[in-house]
Amino acid sequence: MTTLDAAASGRFSIGGDLEVVRLGFGAMRITGAGIWGEPADRDRALATLRRVPELGIDFIDTADSYGPFVSEDLIREALAPYNKLVIATKGGLTRHGPNIWKPVGRPEYLRQCVLMSLRRLGVDRIDLWQLHRVDPAVPADEQFDAIAAMRKEGLIRHVGLSEVPVSVIEQAGRYFPVATVQNRFNLVDRGSEDVLDHCTANGIGFIPWAPLAAGKLAEGHNALTDIAGKRGVSPGQVALAWLLRRSPVMLPIPGTGSPEHLEENVAGAALALEEAEATALDEQGRQAWQDAQAR
Ligand SMILES: NC(=O)c1ccc[n+]([C@@H]2O[C@H](COP(=O)([O-])OP(=O)(O)OC[C@H]3O[C@@H](n4cnc5c(N)ncnc54)[C@H](OP(=O)(O)O)[C@@H]3O)[C@@H](O)[C@H]2O)c1
Repeated sequence: MTTLDAAASGRFSIGGDLEVVRLGFGAMRITGAGIWGEPADRDRALATLRRVPELGIDFIDTADSYGPFVSEDLIREALAPYNKLVIATKGGLTRHGPNIWKPVGRPEYLRQCVLMSLRRLGVDRIDLWQLHRVDPAVPADEQFDAIAAMRKEGLIRHVGLSEVPVSVIEQAGRYFPVATVQNRFNLVDRGSEDVLDHCTANGIGFIPWAPLAAGKLAEGHNALTDIAGKRGVSPGQVALAWLLRRSPVMLPIPGTGSPEHLEENVAGAALALEEAEATALDEQGRQAWQDAQAR
């Protein structure tokens, strides 16, 4: 496989008017261990980011809490001015140390998140701002109301949610159009299948986080090795191709701090699975998910 153009993954219009190439980039892995502090190799992180648009990717997912702040700062350093690059960010999670994430959904904090992301990214409006988590300690309606106000004010163009069930998507939809939903989903992690189906039926972009199961699918998995071997591609590429085929609203954002892995993932966008291959993958992946649930 020689194609190195993410455009092979097709396109999707976020919110009906913000067109992006479906294979995006997740910018969580360009920070330190535990998604805390600076990356071990800053130049490599910047090189990875600069390679992103060169490979035809025009959609980057980040969050103020990655680092915190490190991912947004590096994106600006590497890529501003962004031209047609869409930088989607998130807010609503505070950080107290490596791998520690605490939701805070008080309206004044959400507003601070947006204002500070605008400043760090160097933009007047955030193309896609996602509520990283709905804070269970604050009424959801208060959080959605605050976001709706910021959208009305023009600070945010489109709004997304993360880790939500269908009922919360519908609740939020009374305040603003839900443009995207970002839930954990991959071949062997099918807990959000109902949410994906809801998004597909309603034209809502579905951003599966951990599309490679945090790297495990790139290393290899029973469900993938057969087809990967026959096609002469890597298991991770098969996993990404399966995701892209699963729904036209699917916007995978594999995360990496390595330019080589980035290129490998982009090459996966050009892999067209056959019907029988996709069906076999679907069944084996679901079985692996069910087995893991039963353990
Ligand atoms: N909404 C949320 O709550 C939430 C939570 C987590 C993540 N996210 C977003 O989703 C994105 C993706 O999730 P993720 O980064 O956790 O998981 P992922 O994309 O499934 O996997 C990333 C891991 O796989 C490795 N990897 C990537 N490409 C590879 C390749 N071709 N070969 C071998 N290893 C490879 C990376 O290591 P290397 O760096 O060494 O390549 C990294 O450790 C994040 O970057 C972030 O933007 C959102």
